[in-house]
Order: sequence, then C-alpha cells, then structure tokens
Amino acid sequence: MRNLSAWIPGLLVLFLSTESCTHSPILEEECPPGTVDFTQEILPLIQTNCAMSGCHVGANAAEGIRLTSYSQIMRQVEPGHPEESELFEVLTEQGGKRMPPPPMASLSSAAIERIRLWIQQGAKETHCNSGCDTTAPASWAQVSFVFSSQCVGCHQASLTSGNVRLDTYADAVQAVNDHDVSSAIFGINGAPKMPPNALLSDCHSAIIMRWIQAGMPQ
Ligand code: HEC
Repeated sequence: MRNLSAWIPGLLVLFLSTESCTHSPILEEECPPGTVDFTQEILPLIQTNCAMSGCHVGANAAEGIRLTSYSQIMRQVEPGHPEESELFEVLTEQGGKRMPPPPMASLSSAAIERIRLWIQQGAKETHCNSGCDTTAPASWAQVSFVFSSQCVGCHQASLTSGNVRLDTYADAVQAVNDHDVSSAIFGINGAPKMPPNALLSDCHSAIIMRWIQAGMPQ
C-alpha cells in the first residue's frame, strides 16, 4: 500500500504534463449538435446580467449569492430539472421577486430558453469547439442575441452605463454612431474593455464586427 501511494504523485505529474502539451488551458470539446455551451454562452450571460457590481458579486453579494463561476452558479441549479432550479425560476417570477429585479429589464425570452435548455441538458461545464457561423449574412437578429445576453444587463433604459443603450435596434445603431463600439469589444484604442466583467467569445465579437461592417442591417 505504501508503495502504491508513493507512486500516485509521480503518475499525476506525468498525466498533467502530457495533458498540457496537447491542449490549451481551457479544454475545448466536440459537443453533440444543439449542446448549450456553458463557458462561451451561459457564463457570460450570467456574469453580465447578474454578477455586475452591486448585485451577485463580491463580499457583499445580494443574499450572499455569488454568480461568478461554475461552482457558485451550480448552488442554484438542479441538473436536468430547470423547474426545480432557483436560477431558472427567478427569471420568470412575477413582480419584485423576478431577477434581474424591476425596473431592470427581464432577460430576453431567447436567453431564458438557453438557460432552461442548458439545465435540462444536465448543467455541465461544457466548452464546445463549436466554430462560428460566419457564412450567414450579418443580421440584427444575431447581434441582438449577443447584446441581450451580454451587454443589455448594463446598457438599457434603467441602467445606461456610459450613456450607451443596446436594447433596441435604434439604440444600438446610435451607440455605434456615437461611440467606438468596435474598440470597446476588444478593449483597444483607449476604450474600456466590454463587457468589463466577462469574456466575449471570438465568435460573438465576430458577429458584432460583421454587422457593423455590413452597415448595421436590421
Ligand atoms: C457589467 C456591466 C457592463 C456590461 C455587461 C457591458 N458594459 Fe459597456 N459599459 C459599462 C460601463 C460601466 C461603461 C462606462 C465605462 C467608462 O466610461 O469607463 C460602459 C461603456 C460602454 C461603451 C462606451 C465606451 C466609450 O469609449 O465611450 C460601449 C460602446 C459599451 N460599453 C459597449 C458594450 C458592449 C458592446 C457590451 C457587450 C458586449 C457591454 N458594453 C457590456 C458597463 C457594462
């Protein structure tokens, strides 16, 4: 027994070092079609809509609920059962119990559906090598999905951070005309990095850039 336990650390080091040669730090996996991607979709959605300052982040998080990592989020989730998961329930609650709380806008129905589906699929920490569809024509439908899931938490009628709103087509066009949105999504040319508290995936930044370059079609 003693001999075996002496071996384990050595084997572990061997295993870990082989791993780090073949993979990037965050392992991308081939996911079955239709899999909801936790790392690139659900985590940023929750970070930008629930874990902004004053809400579910840091030592003074509302009701002690912090929502900045997979393990923290999982305390509010019953894998496979959206209707028994606090995280999902509060999104569709009526009145003051709804999250994000009024007067903040509720999450879009598309974003709520992605969270429901992710929980139903087992609420795994998926990070899919899903590629990015850059062949579909740039459209407001694609861009508004990205904005509503990753930007509108801080850029809407009741919270116009930096004087920017991204919740309607007209507001988004005005934001691009009045501000350097492209620099903000990459955090270049002196613009503050957006979103400030989460990762915008390469796919999502490409969708925004293509739409701006195409003249912001509706
Ligand atoms: C957690 C809150 C939060 C999220 C999420 C967020 N922003 Fe911001 N945004 C801010 C704040 C705060 C400012 C003002 C910052 C400043 O002026 O330093 C700002 C400013 C901006 C500006 C103006 C920058 C400038 O140089 O004037 C743009 C454009 C912008 N955001 C776009 C976005 C986009 C696009 C997203 C989503 C991909 C996003 N933001 C997500 C909080 C947020």
